[in-house]
Amino acid sequence: MFRAAVVTVSDRGFSGEREDKSGPLVQAMLTEAGYSVALREIFPDERARLAERLAEICDKNEADLIVTTGGTGFSPRDWTPEATLDIAERQVPGIPEAMRACSMTKTRRAMLSRAVSVLRGRTLIINLPGSPRAAQENLECVLPSLEHGLEIMTGRARECAKGPDQV
Ligand code: MTE
Repeated sequence: MFRAAVVTVSDRGFSGEREDKSGPLVQAMLTEAGYSVALREIFPDERARLAERLAEICDKNEADLIVTTGGTGFSPRDWTPEATLDIAERQVPGIPEAMRACSMTKTRRAMLSRAVSVLRGRTLIINLPGSPRAAQENLECVLPSLEHGLEIMTGRARECAKGPDQV
């Protein structure tokens, strides 16, 4: 069982002005998919603070997977992809490419998400957009393929044997 952390990035969610619906939804999806959700946190849209916490979760090996939700758009306060890239060791461009490709079949506004995915040590980080619908649509597209990547990342698998997620 892989350990996941869910990090909501939202000024209004952090201040309590708006209920965080995406964090619990992402947590439920991950739990349903067989992850143990070890952490769920809310951060304001502050690049340095978010980057520091993401790095800490990776470096202390608190989770195999970190899923962030929010802060991927064009608002002046949207810095989640930059905070993620600040602490990245390696980029995983295929994950956001796949999320945007799937999402474009639902809304053309999918192109407006600047989400990235990266590896730091033995942790994979994936950004999702902030609205519950967008978070769900993006995550459900990539979720079936993540386990194989995590198995390779953690050394639990070495071969790319055919799995149920393969078309
Ligand atoms: N992707 C999917 N699948 N469904 C959506 O409704 N919304 C888009 C995009 N991606 C959307 C989506 C919109 S309107 C924006 S502005 C961006 O995600 C960024 O969202 P964020 O600023 O909440 O992170």
